[in-house]
Amino acid sequence: MRLLIKNLKSLVGIQRPDVRQLWGLEMQQLSQIDNAWLLIEGEMIADFGEMQNCPPDSLADQIIDATGKFCFPSWCDSHSHIVFAASREEEFKMKIEGKTYAEIAAAGGGILNSAAKMATATEEDLFSAASERVKDVIKQGTGALEIKSGYGLSYETELKMLRVIKRLKETFPIPIKATLLAAHAIPKAYANNRSEYIDMIIDKLIPEVSREHLADYVDVFCEEGFFTLQETKQILDASAKYGLKPKIHVNQLSVSGGVELGVQENAISVDHLEETNEAAIQALSKQNTIATLLPSCSFYLNIPFANAREMINQQVSIAIASDYNPGSTPSGNMNLVVSLACIKLKMTPEEAINAATLNGAAAMEISDNYGSITKGKVANLFLTRNMSSVAFLPYSFGQNQQELIILKGNVYHG
Ligand code: NIG
Ligand code: FE
Repeated sequence: MRLLIKNLKSLVGIQRPDVRQLWGLEMQQLSQIDNAWLLIEGEMIADFGEMQNCPPDSLADQIIDATGKFCFPSWCDSHSHIVFAASREEEFKMKIEGKTYAEIAAAGGGILNSAAKMATATEEDLFSAASERVKDVIKQGTGALEIKSGYGLSYETELKMLRVIKRLKETFPIPIKATLLAAHAIPKAYANNRSEYIDMIIDKLIPEVSREHLADYVDVFCEEGFFTLQETKQILDASAKYGLKPKIHVNQLSVSGGVELGVQENAISVDHLEETNEAAIQALSKQNTIATLLPSCSFYLNIPFANAREMINQQVSIAIASDYNPGSTPSGNMNLVVSLACIKLKMTPEEAINAATLNGAAAMEISDNYGSITKGKVANLFLTRNMSSVAFLPYSFGQNQQELIILKGNVYHG
């Protein structure tokens, strides 16, 4: 099957195959070809170029006339908690009344609230609710997704969440990476014996997750009131023995030293960084560990926005992601994330788009096959409505410009 897309106003996000990740100012470069064509063969991007060199129609089985439209590589959303049992709009009201995220968590809301609801949910119900959310984000342009456990907080329920993620992986035509986040909060039952919970994760849960191949990564919420730096290291070290690389939640509410630990432990990414100081930025400078920034979380919680400009100056590799979860970010809309990265993180549209595509793919270790318009990569992309320029996409904040979604070379109908 050959699909030829013709007359594109612009083909955006073209990248050489050897460029798998971008650092600092490199992110400003977003290559595009105006008045372009793109040929897809089977699941792959076969070729592309300027319309003056367009292959004949007879070469294709299907032709799309994309006059006035832009083609982008799909968003690669490298941080989400999309499997959850119930929404938490009661906390939304508490926030409006002035309670902080930490106060809501301390009052038994937050993660423990989601864990209580998760405990009684069936695998079937979790799968069907999460499937609807995955369909929604695919329609909004997401073509690769990472999903964390972390609302189970017990041996059985963490495994239940990961099995739901496994089913999502098998069901949807996008790559999905699974992350074990059992160390998301100390469950109520272990409030007075936290080391027993950590021992359970290390001695029982990680080996079983590995045996059943249920996770690609391990995550820890390294934060005051959640897990200490030393506990984080203990869990990362235990996971490393089973080949689970870290992607960790750090510096969301306070500076913890977790960024430096993540870099030392070769974390794929350190995520959040709203409260990041100079030392943390220095630690990330020119490193492979990606700073995954979550501007819609800052927006929703009214907490500071990460210092992306300084990170870019210091040659840090940045991804942006949704953090889709029922507490701190009940939205997986990557178009809004890209807009907020421009408006609040002061990233240029080009930087934000690179952070949401190629670097997002790198934060899931799939940038050899996803995240850019490159010959031989999987054809996961979207066509926009008629637009005037690349910048129109983040400029038109709160709106989705996707008109046609293509996944593995096929038009996605949901
Ligand atoms: O990334 N910070 C920790 N975890 C999530 C929020 C989880 C929740 O509130 O349910 C986050 O913001
Ligand atoms: Fe998160």
